[in-house]
Amino acid sequence: MSNLVFVAKESVAEETRVAASVETVKKMKNLGFDVVIEAGAGALSRIPDTEYEAVGARIGSIKDAKAADVILKVRRPTSKEISGYKSGAIVIAIMDPYGNEAALAEMARAGLTSFAMELMPRITRAQSMDVLSSQANLAGYQAVIEAAAVYDRALPMMMTAAGTVPAAKVFVMGAGVAGLQAIATARRLGALVSATDVRPAAKEQVASLGAKFVAVEDEEFKAAETAGGYAKEMSKEYQAKQAALVADHIAKQDIVITTALIPGRPAPRLVGRDMLKAMRPGAVAVDLAVERGGNIEGAEYGKIADVEGVKVVGYPNMAGRIAASASALYAKNLVTFLETMVDKDTKSLALNRTDELIKATMLTDGGEVVNPNFVDPDQPTIKKGDL
Ligand code: NAI
Repeated sequence: MSNLVFVAKESVAEETRVAASVETVKKMKNLGFDVVIEAGAGALSRIPDTEYEAVGARIGSIKDAKAADVILKVRRPTSKEISGYKSGAIVIAIMDPYGNEAALAEMARAGLTSFAMELMPRITRAQSMDVLSSQANLAGYQAVIEAAAVYDRALPMMMTAAGTVPAAKVFVMGAGVAGLQAIATARRLGALVSATDVRPAAKEQVASLGAKFVAVEDEEFKAAETAGGYAKEMSKEYQAKQAALVADHIAKQDIVITTALIPGRPAPRLVGRDMLKAMRPGAVAVDLAVERGGNIEGAEYGKIADVEGVKVVGYPNMAGRIAASASALYAKNLVTFLETMVDKDTKSLALNRTDELIKATMLTDGGEVVNPNFVDPDQPTIKKGDL
């Protein structure tokens, strides 16, 4: 009998994305899976149920989750959702595990074998499964589009018979995946772009996109990148020097887009009220880190806040605002990962627990939280026999 994949309709109201596309349903069918899509799951990503049906999926309801061997989601399942899954089911999603140990323990108690896509190692083999990159890239693009929509001047320089409109100055803080795409997008729209980061590797990447690099380049900066390619939390001294440099620069900018994150830590505070106050009327700031505490003082979750005369855009889930594209890429990331769990000869699930991708992303298995980063010392370990 074929293994069953259930693609959930997201239960969080603001989630517009879906975990399967028409292309990935086709792929899953070829891998030997039966696929059930919860009715309406793709609606907000512009994939009608009929399109899934046309490639061999069955449209079902939440009740079908009970029989599923694999559940694909965008977000970590809620308690209610978990109670509808069978013990031993594989659940793959963006799990947001940091600080959510109780939710992980709940998945463990339900006997789920759960995977956090955002923990995928950034190695060549896993590039096509890297949801942080696929979603951050679109978020970076969309941040510029949102900023341009709120900004009441033009971005490109325009020389017209009625006079010249100057190019907007855009400053991007944090030049990782999202930041680099924001730089590229702002450049395409004709803005004058500058950017900052604490990782030295970012300097060349920023320059190669035609933007100016602005940063405190001291000894700490030279050592700020971890082996995994991420930023470290900077010292208080560095942060003070960075703030002084940024304050000067920001005062001359029209649009600021912040994307700075440190894995497993709150987002660094990069822009204070005093800096916003120094910007000119009508300036816009977009805080892509708002879900992780925010880079900008006064940013409000889900709102455009007026902070010292600057419009501060604090939309969460920026990738979800471009849902059709985001879902297509996310679904592809998922199916590529799922494929590594399938025995091609028998066309059935065969989880290789020694595979480095499985080891890095697996959160819970056999009734326990197994990921060493999230084993909670305060929670009693639950053994298989307790289930
Ligand atoms: P991220 O989302 O964790 O952080 C965004 C950016 O904020 C980073 O560039 C980080 O250095 C910067 N940042 C942190 N603290 C800051 C501060 N105080 N001031 C200014 N900037 C600050 O990072 P993301 O986008 O996930 O990328 C991290 C790196 O990984 C990049 O070099 C990227 O190119 C690389 N990468 C490698 C991949 C691979 O090899 N397969 C795939 C994707 C990304």
